[in-house]
Amino acid sequence: MKILVTGGGGREHAIIKRIGPAHEIFCAPGNGGIASDAKIFPEIKATDIDGQVELAKKLGVDLVVIGPDDALALGLADRLKKIGIKAFGPEKAASALEASKVFSKDLMKKYNIPTAAYEVFDDPEKAKIYIETLEKFPTVIKADGLALGKGVIIAEDKAKALEAVTQIMEDKKFGESGKRIVIEEFLSGPEISVFVVTDGVNAVELSSAMDHKRVGDNDTGLNTGGMGTIAPNPFYTDSIKAEVNKLIIKPTIEAMQKEGCPFVGVIFFGLMATPSGVKVIEYNSRFGDPEAQVILPLFKGDFAKLLEKTAEGKLGEYTDSSPDNEYTACVVIASGGYPEKYETGKVITGLNENGQIEDMPDVTIYHAGTKYTDGYYYTAGGRVLGVTAKASTLKSAIDRAYEAVGKISFDKMQFRRDIGKKALIGNE
Ligand code: AMP
Ligand code: GLY
Repeated sequence: MKILVTGGGGREHAIIKRIGPAHEIFCAPGNGGIASDAKIFPEIKATDIDGQVELAKKLGVDLVVIGPDDALALGLADRLKKIGIKAFGPEKAASALEASKVFSKDLMKKYNIPTAAYEVFDDPEKAKIYIETLEKFPTVIKADGLALGKGVIIAEDKAKALEAVTQIMEDKKFGESGKRIVIEEFLSGPEISVFVVTDGVNAVELSSAMDHKRVGDNDTGLNTGGMGTIAPNPFYTDSIKAEVNKLIIKPTIEAMQKEGCPFVGVIFFGLMATPSGVKVIEYNSRFGDPEAQVILPLFKGDFAKLLEKTAEGKLGEYTDSSPDNEYTACVVIASGGYPEKYETGKVITGLNENGQIEDMPDVTIYHAGTKYTDGYYYTAGGRVLGVTAKASTLKSAIDRAYEAVGKISFDKMQFRRDIGKKALIGNE
């Protein structure tokens, strides 16, 4: 097959590596590391919908796999389908599952899918009056729209909650995304990421994962796109999995059908195992980054076929979903300063010309923000590399990933030293 992958981060590199060299793969915009596995088009951004559609037409691809949420929310899948090109990823209406917190919360309420209790506001004064009546803190304030993963504020007390409303609705910290807000109950418990590929009716569940969102060790410092992941998530036990399938996954897929916007692609369920049952924290309408880097290497079947059958609405014909009994760990190496200001253009040492580490076949380096020029890889983003190892135990996957991290260096590089530590406790 000829396949175009939209995007240019570690997630897209993981998708491309898992599709594999049996197919002709293109990627726009791509990055330096992706260039060793696919033909890249650095000038065409993921959000350049006209450019992506033109490229897909010009290349005559059989399938487009859409990586990032904003391209989906801009209607890339709708545009491709209109001209007869198959797309893996939801149409604009279904992408609201992630792109609008109000849509997703109202959907969950209507269909009795367990989630935190909430209220919606489009008037800052009314939101503030409501906060004055709250007795329990922390409380959680979320901008309705996409905000690069930063639109959630956990307010420790009343003053911070009032300030959050001002920042989001009046100072427009997240632009138009903050025109409406959700104020919801604070939940606690381990977080579990679950990935389900669906053609709108049928579903194939992939591995679960655990993310590490904060920049610093022991979950300190600012929130990031994700500093590391492990898979599968040990908190996702067989009994929790059965509960999640019955009360969350199946009802969500059916709810989207009933609302007239069947979801085609992958639903990333952000869950929390609370003392009163598993609840949905958020939905995402795409693979996670860096979750894709750990769940896709564990997928044993024919991945290109899975993507194609999903896009065709024929996932029922896909039969091979044999589970893998291995473990993966991904440690993200980021530029110093990330998620705030950072420098780029630093030369990276320790990688061979394919952007991998020599003689470590159990380790894959997924490139998130790199550029390849004259035989050298240079940093070109906040998150630079996702160093991923696969092994027969979680502990050895983590150890091997860190061994590989030790071979890579660039000026001011940073990474967390505790990826998977929480998952190992009691699970060694
Ligand atoms: P989101 O952008 O919705 O994934 O939220 C970012 C992070 O905020 C989540 O991964 C949780 O750690 C946290 N969070 C979101 N909603 C809640 C909630 N209702 N209670 C506690 N933590 C939350
Ligand atoms: N790593 C979190 C996300 O992709 O949303």
